[in-house]
Amino acid sequence: MSEGIVTASYVGATILFILALGGLSNQETARRGNLYGIIGMTVALIATIAGVTGNIEILVGGLILGGAIGLILAKRVQMTEMPELVAMLHSLVGLAAVLVGFANFMDPGRLSHYSGVELTIHDVETYLGILIGAVTLSGSVIAFGKLSGKISGNPMLLPARHFLNLILLLISIWLCKEFVVQSAAGGGTAPLLIMTGIALLFGIHMVMAIGGADMPVVVSMLNSYSGWAASATGFMLSNDLLIVTGALVGSSGAILSYIMCRAMNRKFLSVIAGGFGTTSGGGSASVEEQGEVIALQAPEVAALLTESKEVMIIPGYGMAVAQAQHIVNEITKALRAKKINVRFGIHPVAGRMPGHMNVLLAEAKVPYDIVYEMDEINDDFPDIDVSIVIGANDIVNPSAQTDPDSPIAGMPVMEPWLGGTTIVLKRGMATGYAGVQNPLFFKENTRMLFGDAKKSLDEVFKNI
Ligand code: TAP
Repeated sequence: MSEGIVTASYVGATILFILALGGLSNQETARRGNLYGIIGMTVALIATIAGVTGNIEILVGGLILGGAIGLILAKRVQMTEMPELVAMLHSLVGLAAVLVGFANFMDPGRLSHYSGVELTIHDVETYLGILIGAVTLSGSVIAFGKLSGKISGNPMLLPARHFLNLILLLISIWLCKEFVVQSAAGGGTAPLLIMTGIALLFGIHMVMAIGGADMPVVVSMLNSYSGWAASATGFMLSNDLLIVTGALVGSSGAILSYIMCRAMNRKFLSVIAGGFGTTSGGGSASVEEQGEVIALQAPEVAALLTESKEVMIIPGYGMAVAQAQHIVNEITKALRAKKINVRFGIHPVAGRMPGHMNVLLAEAKVPYDIVYEMDEINDDFPDIDVSIVIGANDIVNPSAQTDPDSPIAGMPVMEPWLGGTTIVLKRGMATGYAGVQNPLFFKENTRMLFGDAKKSLDEVFKNI
């Protein structure tokens, strides 16, 4: 393929990636956005492969291996494990950036290709690529551990941690200077290796210090880092498409992190610095039960729903676990047929990844126009007859407003207790992700329907 065609394909792929991001910003256009992304990536891959002259068998081998792993993972992964998978994939981007950086550094032709200022620029690119890649790699592995419950979700706060981070940063800057100087003289391996170790430690420390209500931001923040790592790799390889694509991922991830921080009432810098506004104890005292709960059976819940005029459905992580979205849609249709106004209220961090609930509801074909964001709907609760909370816990916890020591203190929450009756569907009295008791369950106007959300809703549907 001629260089002109490769360049044109890269421009085309870039435009498709921008269209993909635009499409993904809205539920109605998300499918189209996804399609643009797939076509863009296919064009980019074909153009890149066609531009390669030597070692084609290694490339094809890598493609088959990587493609097979991707296919198997995508087929096996449950919807509830999606955030863990995303965290793992980010770690692979970080690993790739580190490996490409070292390969670049060890390339025997490097010193004959570059000299003087050009060599310095190339070395700084390599250094930054490995640095960002290593932070992304270890940070993502820890995020994977936290999201899958293998590591405690509480923030780990070392004494003088900000001072420690500052020292690590200063040492990294000094090592960069050492690396550039030694590399020009044919050396540089030692500073590069030491910096990689420091960056790996920094990634672990950074994500370990984040927890509680700040955890959702970590996923989008690492997404952003993986983009910058890819962009740095693009600079190392002089590949324009990788630079642009990495920058798109990096900046969109950063914007998403910012939006999520705003929705969660958190300061972006505080979240990244870790542990601000959270207690290291994880609020263990508040796990105790706070009174009696009133349990109902499915026929009573069906009666409450059919007798009401305004119903609000608040889905959470448990709906994803139970895969209850389809029966939720059936119930919604049945109630709307009875002229009951049914709406959905979606909290910005319901579930385990941004947009988790929206994806599930779209999959079940719930109409978009009855699905509202928390901000659009929170003031309407006094007019709601029945709110039905499906496997949600932290996002409807009033202690976020009343207990300043809670790990979720200050997080905006949905306020169903201001309405008529709240029905909570869950299997038992277990806490949610943040590990804190929920006073909502013990309120006078709250009723519990215990059991797996899908089984409970099947019963409710039969009774409607
Ligand atoms: P959670 O607070 O985690 O509560 C989920 C509840 O669902 C649990 O209390 C559980 O209680 C119940 N449940 C689990 N399986 C169920 C099933 N099969 N049937 C019925 N109920 C079931 O979820 P949430 O309210 O959606 O809040 C999200 C939490 O995750 C927040 O703390 C948020 O900060 C955090 N988080 C979010 C994200 C993003 S980006 N969304 C990322 C990381 C962390 P039982 O065990 O008693 O059934």
